[in-house]
Amino acid sequence: MAIVVSIFPVLLWRMMAFQANLLQAKGIQVLPPVNFTLTVSALAEVLLQWKPNPDQEKNHTVEYNVEIMTPEWEPYETKKTCSTRTAVLHNGFSARIRTLLLYNNSQIESNWVTAKLQAPPGAVETSVTNLSCVIYTAIDNTASLHCTWLAGKEAPEDTKYFLFYRYNSYTEECQEYSKDKWERNIGCRFSNTYIKTSETDEVIVIHINGSSKYTAIKPFEQLFNPQAIEKVNPPRNVTVFLKQNNLLIMWEMPASSFLEDCFEYELNIYNWKMDYRQILETMLNSFSLSIDDTCRYSIQIRANRQSWCSEGIWSDWTEPLHIGKNQPRTPVDSKAYTVLIALLVFICSVALLTAIICRKYHLWSRLFPPIPTPHNSLKNLFLNKSYQRTRNFTSETETEIGSCCEDLGSYVEDLSSDVLEDSCNMNY
Ligand SMILES: *[C@@H]1O[C@H](CO)[C@@H](O)[C@H](O)[C@H]1NC(C)=O
Ligand SMILES: *[C@@H]1O[C@H](CO)[C@@H](O)[C@H](O)[C@H]1NC(C)=O
Ligand SMILES: *[C@@H]1O[C@H](CO)[C@@H](O)[C@H](O)[C@H]1NC(C)=O
Ligand SMILES: *[C@@H]1O[C@H](CO)[C@@H](O)[C@H](O)[C@H]1NC(C)=O
Ligand SMILES: *[C@@H]1O[C@H](CO)[C@@H](O)[C@H](O)[C@H]1NC(C)=O
Ligand SMILES: *[C@@H]1O[C@H](CO)[C@@H](O)[C@H](O)[C@H]1NC(C)=O
Repeated sequence: MAIVVSIFPVLLWRMMAFQANLLQAKGIQVLPPVNFTLTVSALAEVLLQWKPNPDQEKNHTVEYNVEIMTPEWEPYETKKTCSTRTAVLHNGFSARIRTLLLYNNSQIESNWVTAKLQAPPGAVETSVTNLSCVIYTAIDNTASLHCTWLAGKEAPEDTKYFLFYRYNSYTEECQEYSKDKWERNIGCRFSNTYIKTSETDEVIVIHINGSSKYTAIKPFEQLFNPQAIEKVNPPRNVTVFLKQNNLLIMWEMPASSFLEDCFEYELNIYNWKMDYRQILETMLNSFSLSIDDTCRYSIQIRANRQSWCSEGIWSDWTEPLHIGKNQPRTPVDSKAYTVLIALLVFICSVALLTAIICRKYHLWSRLFPPIPTPHNSLKNLFLNKSYQRTRNFTSETETEIGSCCEDLGSYVEDLSSDVLEDSCNMNY
């Protein structure tokens, strides 16, 4: 078997060589096409055109063998003399083409002819990076497009970026930019687009070019599959029922132009008492689960399309629904709590502030003059002690530490007078 397999290509090659020789012997020539041109026909779209070689004999069937070389290698064959290709063009584009002559069940090739589009000017580091785009679909099926990116490392501060999107033959420039701290555009939103996420095989082209006084800004292009970047809407009308210890959750499919069967769901069931979270998956529109009804649960659901309906970005989780004993505080309650806590914090800070002001201006001792006799000796004792300790240091640091001690002294005075008052009160 292996021998047959390995012999076959050899035979085929021999035969073709034989045919070629035969054709050459018959004076049949295979000539490459002429006037092969590349034209940018839209954003990230190239029109390839060529003419049959005028010297090629017309009474044989010819085809063309095209090979896209950059940005990505892609070979294909066509009988036409033109074709369009969608590809990112910021690194240039090149392709080659040759004639194929079909004769007596075999084919003979011409030489290649090549054409190139130069990469646009500008250093790579001036073009945007980390481009990411998300599509949101509204209930009426209009799609909005949101993109963000980072300015290139070498993009001067005055760089102005411009974003364009193309979908089919429709091209539009962004009108709603968001900016970084140098006022450079780094985000864009189109609140209404022609994008239809239900149309497969269509791509979204994003083209971001720019300008600066100081240098050329290299454009950047990226192709997106609309379905893959669509943020799915969350499930609708979620309801939960509890019958004894059987939890039943029901919901409706998200707002979408896709069929109900397309969707899958994740349930996020959190048991507050046990601090335990379960993530469950289903393709149905309801779910039942037996639970411990002495516990409190919160339930959230999110949706995505299954892979056979081309997966998007997972929806947000729905608002949590609570069920079971120990119902959590309602939003009104929690608001009241917030107010209460804010009030407490306010009272505490006012009290603290008052205390600090009292201390600073010695209000305390003015309001309640200390009884002088017993603690003066205590203060002197303390001062002497700390001064003696600092004596051991060099003379340079001594003054500093000495003045420190003086400050400390006045502090000690306040403190000890307070202490004294307290102890006096206690004595009473
Ligand atoms: C190729 O282009 C040249 C110059 O543009 C033109 O004169 C010639 O007729 C073209 N050849 C064909 C086969 O169209
Ligand atoms: C076209 O084919 C016919 C026979 O198939 C042949 O006689 C003729 O010479 C061919 N024409 C040219 C220009 O080679
Ligand atoms: C076609 O090819 C076969 C073998 O591949 C050969 O026997 C036959 O003579 C060829 N016919 C012509 C018209 O060249
Ligand atoms: C940008 O993308 C690069 C590579 O994809 C990544 O390493 C980097 O963390 C991203 N930067 C930010 C700010 O997201
Ligand atoms: C950016 O691209 C658009 C669309 O191709 C073009 O009209 C515009 O002149 C370009 N701007 C700069 C600064 O290159
Ligand atoms: C959700 O419930 C409301 C009222 O019960 C109803 O009008 C609406 O059609 C429901 N939505 C879906 C998607 O079933």
